[in-house]
This record gives sequence, structure tokens and C-alpha cells, in this order.
Amino acid sequence: MGSIGFDKTVLDPTLLFSKRVQQYEPGAIRSLLPLEALPGMISLVAGKPNPETFPFTEISISLKGSDGHMIVLEEDQLSEALQYGLPGGNPELIKWFEELQRRVHGIGDHDGWACCIGNGSQELIHRVFQVFTDLGDPVLIETPAYPGVAGFLRADGHQLIEVRSDAEGLNPIDLEHILSTWSGKRRPRVLYTIPTGSNPTGQSCTEPRKAQILRLARQFNFMIFEDDAYGFLDFEHPSCRARSYLALESEVNGETGRVLRFDSLSKIVSSGMRLGILTGPLPAVQKVIRITENINLQPSSTTQMMALTLFNHWGHAGFLQHCERAAEFYRQRRDAFAAAAERYLQGRATWELPSAGMFFWLTLLLPPGRDSFEVLSRQGRENGILAIPGVAFLPNQRTSCQLRVSYSLLPEKQMAEACRRIAKLVDNAWRFEILM
Ligand SMILES: Cc1ncc(COP(=O)(O)O)c(C=O)c1O
Repeated sequence: MGSIGFDKTVLDPTLLFSKRVQQYEPGAIRSLLPLEALPGMISLVAGKPNPETFPFTEISISLKGSDGHMIVLEEDQLSEALQYGLPGGNPELIKWFEELQRRVHGIGDHDGWACCIGNGSQELIHRVFQVFTDLGDPVLIETPAYPGVAGFLRADGHQLIEVRSDAEGLNPIDLEHILSTWSGKRRPRVLYTIPTGSNPTGQSCTEPRKAQILRLARQFNFMIFEDDAYGFLDFEHPSCRARSYLALESEVNGETGRVLRFDSLSKIVSSGMRLGILTGPLPAVQKVIRITENINLQPSSTTQMMALTLFNHWGHAGFLQHCERAAEFYRQRRDAFAAAAERYLQGRATWELPSAGMFFWLTLLLPPGRDSFEVLSRQGRENGILAIPGVAFLPNQRTSCQLRVSYSLLPEKQMAEACRRIAKLVDNAWRFEILM
């Protein structure tokens, strides 16, 4: 560990790096690109296409609710937007996010961190796993778990260690038990968790629990991957929200550098633009950038430029106001779905009210021995209802009575009917039981 500033320690994350990430060498072309900007330099480096051959003359964007205000990419911005860019992302956009992270998470300038951009947070999560794990390594994963991550971990042969979560988020007692009774040869170096409005449970981790988990991370020497894809859709009043792992780590542990945080623009600006942000210790961010330059070169210049122009127009305050409006939109949906569930699902399912995000996690009260996968596959189609059975969120693929229900797109007037159809699935399962 190195020391920066007065009494704060900055963890050296390279001690936990994987073997496989060491094999990536700097991209021969991309490592020279920053030098092109030096005054007087004649660059014959990159095989960049000549933008004169591109068919676009303008990109203009009109914004909702702004009296027809248009954002127009001017000539310089347009040529940058249509051209290859740097593997870590557009430097101005990175700066914008770094400033946002200072504001939102209160992190200091001297804590050895940086941001980079990816084609969605999913790509960045996958890359950071490559930085810290070798194929087959054990990984601690909050369960129920997001299948988008469990899926690639399983395919890479990782040992998935389920750490349970409940209405207060990831359970530190379960985590401590797993770590203190660990008998495997290799110890887990990574905990993957979704702290706000988890996919699939909709529950958030409390601040006291986050503090306990951070202490365990220090004691047992692992990194925390904080996937906060729903962090901007928190229904709590801003003054009551739990601070992030990134915000808390210095206060709790007197060190920084153990948290890698993933933010996503997918749920608040556009999922099709594919923009995600990684914030974490500089050496780890540099390794992610190295993987990018070797694999898919860079995140999209075009959508980064669209985002940058929008954010420069909004400013940080405007961006955060937009997120508050989006959170309020989903909070109203959650309340409407909760009212429909109260009406039709009482006695047929149990649930906790989601505190953020887009999902209800229902436990169907099915006859013993029945599970939600089987009930849905037998009767879901016939009853006109689709939802995701719990088994999809259990990394080790046990059957379960749970169901993930997304209320993000469902018009309020269809919520009652959706709940009525779920109720029918449960009633039919019992009827079938009696007929047997
Ligand atoms: C928990 C979680 N993490 C990450 C992602 C991927 O987000 P992105 O669109 O930024 O890649 C999703 C998408 O649904 C998600 O639910």
C-alpha cells in the first residue's frame, strides 16, 4: 500500500491483478494517438478515414420539454464525433464525469482514482473481472444475482459463491461467515454487488451494512465491484439516501482504492447509446483501457459526443435534476404496481416494496414442490403473462418460487390485469394440486 496526502492509505490494486490481464500489451497504434495533439506534430500514425468521405453534414438533437431547444454538433465536434477516438473515452466527457463523482460521492483529488468510459457498464464490468480474476477463480456474488454478470462468470468457469441479500441489501453476516470459514485454495478477490434497487430484488443496501462490508473487504483483502446501474433511480429523498461504497471507503477504512464503481447512462439517458462509466483506482482503470484498445478499440465517439453536448447544456445540476425526475417517474409506477399487487396478490405472493429501480421480486405462495419456472412455462403463455422465474437469478441455478416483474414499461392501466393473471397462475397451481 502507498500513502498519498496526510494519513490516508491508497491500496495498491496491482497486488490483486490477474495473470491473464498481464498478457495485454499496449496497442501499437492507440498508445501513439495522444501524441498527435502535440503542437507541430505531423502524424502518419493512425489509419483514420478522411471525414470528407463521410455522408453527414450535421447532427442536431431536439430536447423534450425545452421549447424546441436544439443541440447542434458544430463542424469540429461533428468531425470528432464521426472519427476514431481514444480507448478510454472522450477526454472532456471523462472530465465531466470525474467532476460529477467528486460532487456526488465527495471523493478527493488525491485518492488515486480515475474514470473511463465503456460501451455500457456491462462491458466495463466484464473488463474489470478480467483485471482481477483468472478463469475459474472464486467470485463472491450478491444473490439473487443479475444474470448478465452471472452468465459470463459461469461461462468462464468461475466458482460462484452466493452471498445472500434481503430487504436491507447484501447481508454482511453471511459474507463474514463465508470468508471466515473459507477452506478453498484460492481466496475470492472480488465481491460483485448491486447496492441500489438491485436487479432483481429492487432492494437497496443500507449504509451501516455497506460500512460492515467495507471492513470485511479490508480484513479479507478483496475488491468491491459496485454496480450501481439503478443508482440514479433511488426513490429515497436525496437527504436520506445511503452513501455509495465509493463515498464511504475512506471514512470507514481510512484507505481508498478497493472500490470499483460502475455507473450507467442506460436507465436515465438512453440504453441504445451504450454508455457506461467506470470509477476506480488508476492502475485498474488503465488496465481496462488496455483491454479496450486490444479488443474493440474504444467506446462509440458519436454517442459520447451527443452525451457531452447534452451534459454541457445541462451542467451537473441539470443532469441531477433530470435523474430526480426519472426517479420520480419510476416511483409513481412502483406505487401503482404496489396498489395492484395489494389488490390481487395478497395471500398468493409476498414481496418487499422496491426502494429504487424497476423491479418487484415476488415470492409466489405455491404448493410444496412447485416452482415459478415450471408454473410459468406450463401456464404463462396460455394466461398471457410473461415474467422471469427466480431460477434465472440464482447463480447456481436452484429452482425457486420467485418471479421478477418489471414495471418500467407497463402502462398503469395494465397493472391490475397483470397482477390478476399472476394470481391466476398461483390459483391454478393449487387447483391442479387438488385435482391430483
Ligand atoms: C444490474 C445491472 N448492471 C448492469 C447492466 C447493464 O447496463 P448497461 O446498459 O450500462 O450495459 C444492467 C442492465 O440491465 C443491470 O441491470
